[in-house]
Amino acid sequence: MPDDRPVLFFDSGMGGLSVLAEARRLLPQMPVVYVADNGYFPYGTRTEAEIATRVPVLLGRLAERYHPRLIVIACNTASTIALAHVRAALDLPVVGTVPAIKPAAALSQKRVIGVLGTEATVRQPYVDNLSAEFGADCTVLRYGSARLVELAEAKLRGAPPPVDAAKAYRAILDGLIGQPEGELMDVVVLACTHFPLVAEELAEAAPQPLHFVDGAAGISRRIAHLTQDQSWPAHPGAGVMLLTAPMEVSPEMRANLAAFGLEDIAWL
Ligand code: DGL
Repeated sequence: MPDDRPVLFFDSGMGGLSVLAEARRLLPQMPVVYVADNGYFPYGTRTEAEIATRVPVLLGRLAERYHPRLIVIACNTASTIALAHVRAALDLPVVGTVPAIKPAAALSQKRVIGVLGTEATVRQPYVDNLSAEFGADCTVLRYGSARLVELAEAKLRGAPPPVDAAKAYRAILDGLIGQPEGELMDVVVLACTHFPLVAEELAEAAPQPLHFVDGAAGISRRIAHLTQDQSWPAHPGAGVMLLTAPMEVSPEMRANLAAFGLEDIAWL
C-alpha cells in the first residue's frame, strides 16, 4: 500500500524552499507540507529563548495534525538553537540544517572562509563547534544580515527588486570582506536557507572570486537515507504551503510557489 504521509518542511518564511527544491530533485514523489512561520518572521533577530520556546511547540502541533513521516527544519536559525529541543519533544525523525562549514573548509584554497547567516545563527556556539571541528586551520569570518533575509523573502513573494539592490548585496558581502583577511576569502557558507535563493545576485555583486556553498544537497541525501525503506505515492507528490498568519498572496508569489511544487496555500 502506498504510504502518503508527507515530509514536513519548516522555516520562518520562504527560505526553506531552497532545501525543498534540492530534496524534490532526489525524491520527486515525496508529498510535502511546507510550513512558513510568517507570524513570527524573521527568526534571525529574535532571542535564543524565543526560538527555543516557539519552534518545538509549533512543530509538536504540526506533527499531531499532519502526521509527517519526517520533519525537516529547513532553517539554520531554528536548527542551531532548537534542534535538540525538538528532537527531545517529538517521537519522529527530525533533520536539521546547520552551516555547511565542513564542505566549505574542504573547498577553500586560501583557508579563509565566510559564514553568512542571520544575526542569531552566526553567534551560536554551534558555529564555534563546527569551525573548530572542520575548519581548525581556516580563518572563519562571520556576518549576520537581516537585510539579505528580507531581499530573498521579497523576491519569492514576487516583489520587484529594490532600486539599490546591487549596492545592498555588495554591502552585505563587504561585511565579510571588510574583516581582517577578508580579501583572501574564497568560499562563503550560505548559512541561512533564504540566501541560496539570491545566490546569483550575490555572485554578481562579488568583487572577488567566491564559491558559495550551502547544505541543501546533504540534507536531501539525509532525507533519502532516512526514508529508503519506505514507499511513496505512485505519482509526483502534492505540495501545500501553510502559513501561520494572514498574508496577502500575490499572483507572482503563487507562481513562484507552484514552481517549487507547492500548488496550494492554506492557513494554520
Ligand atoms: N531561513 C532562516 C535561516 O535559515 C531564517 C531567516 C529569518 O527568519 O531570519 O536561518
